[in-house]
Order: sequence, then C-alpha cells, then structure tokens
Amino acid sequence: MELTIRPRRLRENERLRKMVRETRMDKSSLIYPIFVQEGVNIKEEIPSMTGQYRYSPDKFPYALEELLKAGIDKIMLFGIPKEKDAVGSQAYAEDGIVQKALRIAAEKFPEMYLISDVCMCEYTSHGHCGVLNGQDVDNDPTLKLLAKTALSHVQAGAQMVAPSDMMDGRVSAIREILDQSHYQNIPIMSYAVKYASAFYGPFREAAGSAPSFGDRKSYQMDFHNKREAIKEALLDVEEGADIIMVKPAMSYLDVVSEVKNKINLPVASYSVSGEYAMVKAGAKLGYIDEERIICEMAASAYRAGTDVYITYFAKELARFMDEGRIG
Ligand code: PBG
Repeated sequence: MELTIRPRRLRENERLRKMVRETRMDKSSLIYPIFVQEGVNIKEEIPSMTGQYRYSPDKFPYALEELLKAGIDKIMLFGIPKEKDAVGSQAYAEDGIVQKALRIAAEKFPEMYLISDVCMCEYTSHGHCGVLNGQDVDNDPTLKLLAKTALSHVQAGAQMVAPSDMMDGRVSAIREILDQSHYQNIPIMSYAVKYASAFYGPFREAAGSAPSFGDRKSYQMDFHNKREAIKEALLDVEEGADIIMVKPAMSYLDVVSEVKNKINLPVASYSVSGEYAMVKAGAKLGYIDEERIICEMAASAYRAGTDVYITYFAKELARFMDEGRIG
C-alpha cells in the first residue's frame, strides 16, 4: 500500500501518544466544591451523591486535610443553614455557616485557596436565588443582598467570590462593594453562563435548595441558546468579572468552546452534581468504568477550552494525574 500519511504512526505507543498530546491538565486548575452545614460532629453522606458529604464546622477541617494530601488546594464552599427565611438572612449573617467555615479554614489551612459560592437559594425559605416580589425574583433588591453576602464572605476569609444567582448586574454590585471596602484584589469568578438545568438535581437535594414553587427559568439560561452565552459572558467581562464560568460542563462543551474563543478571560467549567451522580450510578450498576469515564469527562472539558475545572471528582483526578493516567 502506498500510504504516505499514516496517522497511526504517532499512536504506536504511550510515549509517542503522550509526546504529541494536545490537551494537558494540571492539578493546579482543579477546584473542589464542598458542603458545610450547621451542627456538630456531622459528616453526612449525600444520598444522591455517593462519596460526597455535608460537614459540620468541627468536621470540616478533616476534609480539608484530606484534600491537601491529595494535592487539591482550592475549594468552593456551599452552606446549609439551620434556618431559612424569605430574605435569606443567613446568607449574609456574620456568623452564617459559610462565614464560620471560612474563618476556620483561613485560620487552620492558610495553604488552602478559599472560594465562596454567592447565592441566596440555600438560605431562602422559598428556595429561589433572590428576594421575591409576588412569584417573581426581584432583581435589583436582590443585588444589594448578594453584594452584602459577598462582602461578608471576604471579611470571613474568602479569597475569591463566585456569584451563581444569575441576577442581572450582580458582578457590578459585588465589584463595587468589594472595592469600596478595599478588597480591590479579590477576584470574581462569575457563573456568567449558567443554564436552567436538570443536572443540578442532586445538588438541590444536598443543599435543600430546590425552589418550593416554579423553577429558575426566569433567571437561569435556556439550554437551547448559545449566542446568549456570549451576551452573558461579555456583560460580566464589562462588569469586572475575572473568570467566566460555564455550567454545567458535560452537555455544554460547545458553549465552553465558544466562550473560550470569544472572551479573553480564563474560562471555568463546572461539572455539576448530576454529572457526578450519573457516573456514580452507572458505575455502581457495573455499566461503565468509573475511572476511565472520569478521565474522559475531564479531558473533554479541557479540550473544549476549560482553564479551571470545578468537579466533585477533583481528588480522584489528582490521583489519576499523579499516576500518569491522564494529563
Ligand atoms: C446555587 C447553585 C446551584 C449549583 C451551584 N450553585 C444550584 C442551582 O442553581 O439550583 C449547582 C451545582 C451542582 O449541581 O453541582 N444557585
């Protein structure tokens, strides 16, 4: 056969395959999402997310220790308060659960980089991501509360804030309050491109944050849209975001790629709870090879343009990278 071009030549062995690999990954780009809840002596497994836990503040340091041992030094914090009310006051309470956890982490683990998720849905009695006006989430009054929440996180030790509420103008509102309080150097990672997605199901169970009526479609994006992703991303760039996030990851890699091409900020993608739960469930049934699926999902996210990958599999991925199975 006279075949001049034989793509298989470069696939002949692992050494060659690794040499010409197009996508390379590094543990330093991984962020682990973690849940803290009020109480003592709690390490409670989340039923729909096998292997993920809710920690009370006293147990939380053990989780951080484990992460650092695994080579993961960035976390994103979610809180589950004891009490919820219509205006989500525990979201911005000085002694709120996230604020408490941040103080502990900042004091005991200075080597851990602390990012906080800024939203109201875990703290409101109705489960929506802001204050209500009738049945609707009232955008502008919500901005003040989000800004207050972000500031309280930073005062408690957050080194980066990540607003996930999808209100219009929240990045500006947060930037303004942080700047006024001399936190000009605290970056904002904006959940700029966040779709209304069934992939958040297990998270809502974990955080008890499902809306008590209606859905989030009047603020989170319609999953039929891609150009709108650029509209949202550009707006947040103008408002002062430092990192643009696309969420979920797996079913939205075309969006990740588009954002990467059009926006000149680092792009984060969030492999959400539903992605995690599907892998765990499939593996438990013996239908898929969990480890290989984790690697493939991560590599595809990076291949699409992800710079920063937020995943419940961060510890596993770190190990796979160390073992040279991925990276
Ligand atoms: C809060 C928030 C959610 C997630 C991250 N921040 C839930 C939601 O929007 O309903 C989802 C994360 C996941 O599913 O892993 N607004």
